[in-house]
Amino acid sequence: MSKNVVVVGAGGRMGKTIIRYLLSGAVPDLKLIGAVDLWDCPDRDKDAGLASGAKESGVKIMTDLSALVPQTDVVIDFSSHHGTVGNAERFAKWAKPAWIIGTTGIGADGKAAIAAAAKIIPVVFAPNMSLGVNLLLALLEQAGRALKDRGYDVEIIERHHRKKKDSPSGTALGLGQAVAKGMDLDLDKVAVHGRHGMANGERPATEIGFHAIRGGDYVGDHTVIFATEGESIEISHRASSRDTFAFGALRAASWVVGKKPALYSMRDVLGV
Ligand SMILES: NC(=O)c1ccc[n+]([C@@H]2O[C@H](COP(=O)([O-])OP(=O)(O)OC[C@H]3O[C@@H](n4cnc5c(N)ncnc54)[C@H](O)[C@@H]3O)[C@@H](O)[C@H]2O)c1
Repeated sequence: MSKNVVVVGAGGRMGKTIIRYLLSGAVPDLKLIGAVDLWDCPDRDKDAGLASGAKESGVKIMTDLSALVPQTDVVIDFSSHHGTVGNAERFAKWAKPAWIIGTTGIGADGKAAIAAAAKIIPVVFAPNMSLGVNLLLALLEQAGRALKDRGYDVEIIERHHRKKKDSPSGTALGLGQAVAKGMDLDLDKVAVHGRHGMANGERPATEIGFHAIRGGDYVGDHTVIFATEGESIEISHRASSRDTFAFGALRAASWVVGKKPALYSMRDVLGV
C-alpha cells in the first residue's frame, strides 16, 4: 500500500533532491502528498516537482504542515534546528506521523524533545543517511575497540560547501561518537574543536580532534585518522552527490511506517 509523504524543507538543497527522487518512482511505495517550507522561501506556492527540477507533481510548497497531518504517514524533515525541534511537541501531541529527521546542528534540548516525541511516534534520526557513512560508523566502533589504550591519536577532518551553517558536521560528530564508544570514552569530555596558539600544549592521549573546512561546493568529505608512532590509519568517505542522502531518507521513510514508537538510527534501517 502506498505511504503518504510530506517533505519539510522542500525548497532547500536536500528537500529538492528528495522530491526529485520521490517523483522518479525510485521507491515505489512512497507518494509525495505535501511539501512545506518557510514563508520567505523563494519557491513558496510553486509546484514542488517543478521547483525541484522534476515533473509537475500537483503538490504546492506550503507553509502550514498541520492541515496535511491527518493524511500523512511519514514526514521527511531536512529543514533547520528550529523547524525540526518545533515539530517535536506537535507530532507528539498528534501522535502522528512517523518522522525521518536529517536536520543537523540540533542541541541537547532539541535532542531531548525529539527523544520525548519518539516515545509516541516512530522516529529515524540520523545526521547522515548514506549507506557508506553508516557502514563507516560500524567500522569505526570496531576500530576504536581494537585500538583502545594502544596509543593511537584520533583526529577527524571534514569538508563541506560554503553554505553549510553548522560545524563540525553532524556526521563528523557521529563518527567521533562511534570511535568514542569503541574506546569507552565520553565524547563530550574528549572532543576538541580546532587548535590555535600555545594554550593547548601537547596533545593528551584521549583527545578526539575535530577540524571543519568550509568552501566551494563540497557535498561532504570525512576522514578519521588514527595516528601513532610508526604508522597511521586513515578511513575516508566522500559524498559526490546529495542523491545518496536522499535515497537513504526515502529508504528510511519506507521502513519506518508501521514500526513501534522508538528513536531509530540509520543503522537500524540499513542493518549495518
Ligand atoms: N542527514 C543527512 O544525510 C544530511 C545530508 C545533507 C544535509 N543534511 C542537513 O539537512 C539540513 C538541510 O540541509 P540543506 O543543505 O538542504 O539546507 P538548505 O538551507 O538548502 O535547506 C533547508 C530548507 O529548510 C527550510 N526551512 C528552514 N526552517 C524551516 C521551518 N521551520 N519549516 C519549514 N522549512 C524550513 C529553509 O527555508 C530551506 O529551504 C541541514 O541541517 C543539513 O546539515 C543532512
